[in-house]
Amino acid sequence: MCGIVGYVGDEECASLLVDGLRKLEYRGYDSAGVAVMGKNGLHVVRAKGKLKNLENKLVGEMPQGTIGIGHTRWATHGKPSDENAHPHKYGGVAVVHNGIIENHLELKEELQKAGHKFTSETDTEIFAHLIQNEIEKGLDLPKAVRAALKLVRGTYALAVISEKQPDMLVVSKNASPLVLGIGEGANYVASDVPAILAHTRDVVYLEEGDFAVITKKGIELTGANGQARKAEVRRIDWTPTMAEKNGHKHFMHKEIHEQARALTDTIRGRASVEEGDVFLDGCHLDAKIVQGISKIQIVACGTSWHASLTGKLMIETIAKIPVEVDLASEFRYREPLVDKNTLCIAVSQSGETADTLGSFREAKARGARGLAICNVVGSAIAREADDVLYTHAGPEIGVASTKAFTTQLAAFFLLAVRLGRLRGTLSADVARNHLENLRELPGLVERTLKYEDVIKAAAYKFSGARDLLFLGRGPQYPVALEGALKLKEISYIHAEGYAAGEMKHGPIALIDENMPVMVLAVRDSATEAGVNYEKILGNLQEVKARGGRVIAIHSEGDTMVPKLAEVSIPCPQTNPLLMPILSVIPTQLFSYHVADHRGTDVDQPRNLAKSVTVE
Ligand code: M6R
Repeated sequence: MCGIVGYVGDEECASLLVDGLRKLEYRGYDSAGVAVMGKNGLHVVRAKGKLKNLENKLVGEMPQGTIGIGHTRWATHGKPSDENAHPHKYGGVAVVHNGIIENHLELKEELQKAGHKFTSETDTEIFAHLIQNEIEKGLDLPKAVRAALKLVRGTYALAVISEKQPDMLVVSKNASPLVLGIGEGANYVASDVPAILAHTRDVVYLEEGDFAVITKKGIELTGANGQARKAEVRRIDWTPTMAEKNGHKHFMHKEIHEQARALTDTIRGRASVEEGDVFLDGCHLDAKIVQGISKIQIVACGTSWHASLTGKLMIETIAKIPVEVDLASEFRYREPLVDKNTLCIAVSQSGETADTLGSFREAKARGARGLAICNVVGSAIAREADDVLYTHAGPEIGVASTKAFTTQLAAFFLLAVRLGRLRGTLSADVARNHLENLRELPGLVERTLKYEDVIKAAAYKFSGARDLLFLGRGPQYPVALEGALKLKEISYIHAEGYAAGEMKHGPIALIDENMPVMVLAVRDSATEAGVNYEKILGNLQEVKARGGRVIAIHSEGDTMVPKLAEVSIPCPQTNPLLMPILSVIPTQLFSYHVADHRGTDVDQPRNLAKSVTVE
């Protein structure tokens, strides 16, 4: 939440900062602003709302200077407004911040008593006042920032510039992400890599408590213990174009269509059909460790939580290890039964979600071994894990997660096979079969995407709905939850996902001729219809009997379901545990086209942000 970018070098930087903010807008879009240091001091321009508003304001008012900071905001303290937009300036100091300062009210009161006038309702403004105060006492900028940080309690990624020392950016991080970019004769800071990818692919991820002074000549990095620390430079293999729309109207649409490639990259080099086994770079699990696991505890939020529900089915079916799945926000504040025989898996696209990170730390503090399933290399969760399984989805910019979900499922499947082999619950022959199914998956994804026109027609037909239900059973139940989340977050239509067998226990009361119901009615496998399929046919008929309008996702070649549904969408068939990777695609495309038809802001839906780095 909130995006930060900063530059120091020889170039005029205002438009470079705005370009960086454009890549970070997914992190928040309540307001945006830049502060640039020029010959006449600091020049701050801010605007409420989308970045476009800032760009319009900058026409004719482009600040001149070669050092600056920028911010795109997701409001926590204080409504979206020009005054609450960052950067916040006091005296000769300008500050951008991501995070929450818990004791800002006490600090503000003290400063007000000393005559300070505040101009915003934010917690962030406190930094500008505290730092300016310390500078007035005679400290240089790095020391003043350090002194201010000692006074605050909370989370932050912070970037500061000052008229007193106009050649440096001072940054620090505690629980909110920050990455430094190393250029030639110029250096950068940002909340996330895409903001600086056009300028450099050499980055340094800051650790908790890190503090850095950045000039155009270099970076001085100090760790949480106050000691100088060597910056570990990583080369990013994402290219700038990977973070562009490539002719698609929205990032979400592009990312839905990238899923075959993303799955190929996630599976590549890891699954050996010939050997009937999986090789996971970054995971150091061996037979002894896996034999010693008595329980797996998964923690995740949102879409990643839905992927985890399917991950549970995969691991329990294949590796026969009991799995619990918790919403990270709930796990943190109960008394979880986790010990040294627990493997805790944190699942997160961004690797920065505050609740997931907090839960992961909690489980590890109780002795659990920590495995991360993450998309962003070097993210906080990945750094804190004992084992990391990266999903190679590439940058996901659309706020609604799509390719992150399907690659997380592929990662879970790989892990389940590996655990099964190490635990001895899976024979090499069955593993070969599973891995063959996995290898065929990208081709089946391409085939699923070919039904986009049918799905788009269905979306247009139902785009006026007020509510919509999604029903699924077994492996399709998490898909129903995910389909409902996707629809509500981007189209603002009220939607709920249910285990179809639960309908009779309450939700069926909602069914009438105004209630479209999307039923995930795929067969359980290519060779048999299966119990889930048979049961969901019954549920589908119950909906129909009460006048509900059925949109069915069914297996290619099935003639039964289309007879019962008002609209039917075919989907290729595969291994039942992998079917969610295919059946979720029509729900993604359906939500996308409903939202686009309704004219909502698909990539940046209201009130949301891509990375939820506050609790
Ligand atoms: O980065 P994470 O996977 O940890 O994010 C978790 C959720 O915030 C995220 O999945 C969210 O629910 C999606 N934007 C929904 O599409």
